Amino acid sequence: MGLTRPRGGLDGPGGTAGRIPGLDGGSVRRPAWRPGLQDDVTELAGEPPAALPSPEDVVARLDGLLDVIRRISAGDFTEKPPLPDGDDAFSRFLVGFRFLVDDLERAHEARRQEMDRLREVDGLKTRFINMAAHELGTPLTPIRMQLHVLGQCGGLDERQRRSLSIVVRNVDRLAYLVEDLLSVARLEHRSMRHEPVPVRISALVAEQIDTFQDIADDQGVALVADAKDIVCVVDPHRLGQVLQNLIANAVRFTPTGGQVTVSCRPEAHALLVAVRDTGVGLTADQVARLFRPFSQVHDRGPITGDRVLCEGSGLGLYICKGIVEMHGGRIWCESEGPGRGATFTLRLPRGPAST
Ligand SMILES: Nc1ncnc2c1ncn2[C@@H]1O[C@H](COP(=O)(O)OP(=O)(O)O)[C@@H](O)[C@H]1O
Ligand SMILES: [Mg+2]
Repeated sequence: MGLTRPRGGLDGPGGTAGRIPGLDGGSVRRPAWRPGLQDDVTELAGEPPAALPSPEDVVARLDGLLDVIRRISAGDFTEKPPLPDGDDAFSRFLVGFRFLVDDLERAHEARRQEMDRLREVDGLKTRFINMAAHELGTPLTPIRMQLHVLGQCGGLDERQRRSLSIVVRNVDRLAYLVEDLLSVARLEHRSMRHEPVPVRISALVAEQIDTFQDIADDQGVALVADAKDIVCVVDPHRLGQVLQNLIANAVRFTPTGGQVTVSCRPEAHALLVAVRDTGVGLTADQVARLFRPFSQVHDRGPITGDRVLCEGSGLGLYICKGIVEMHGGRIWCESEGPGRGATFTLRLPRGPAST
């Protein structure tokens, strides 16, 4: 049988496998056999009674094994348990364990190679987005200038003016898309410019409210600011970009008669900015998907007139999240459900120079 016959070391006497503390055997305490018992056992088992490992020995072996398991679960396969040549239960367990570790190592290596491949593809994708956005964006500046010149020339009849304004609107839309793509590429490449300075947040909010006031008026949506006079250390251009998207979304998803409120209040070491609307709202499932790229969870509807400023590519909230996290902050959305409005809140650390 040999089931209970421990060996001095797990790699056998004179074995060459690497030794791991606790896994290379230990003291073996022989039980004090009762006279006559040995014969009974020999008769029953067909062989002499085996020595049992001491409890300390078992604990030491298991501790050694635990160390190996810890290293392996951290992805370190440099010290695998040696293959024992013993025949006791623990040795056989170790053989099985070693096979398992070998399988795990192969799976780990395959996963590492797959991760490398994905990282390479991801890097290529970011480089492609960056290159495409630059190439698309470069001709936009002269096109816009020439359109402006054309608009100033005079002598255009009504139909020509309408055509021109359609072209201008679509060029603007293209410019916003290019800007979003560039932001995504920079965020993913961690090369977005981030120049935090003390900023009066109420002024930043007022500036963005101003941008959307006409659109909100046209739509019959009240757009109000409720911002305390707080100074916070942020990148004004980037935080402006976040506010712009949140307000644009709120206005876009709030029907006539509704209200969008932008509030701003201090916490102990943070600043809370919230854009709350009384609009179409979101289900819990939609909220969970919002901050992923390209996650437009409502119908787009027609893009007309100045509303081009409110439209995007489904990248806006993804970019907001990246910018807020770049500031060491957090952004989230709450909605009580469809038809019950939504609130987007961001919490930013106020920074050392804030008041
Ligand atoms: N205030 C809001 N109320 C309801 N849905 C919203 C609101 N803001 C954003 N959403 C949903 O989240 C989607 C993603 O928003 P965003 O990332 O800014 O992309 P985009 O504005 O280009 O659609 C929107 O298309 C819309 O479905
Ligand atoms: Mg948007």
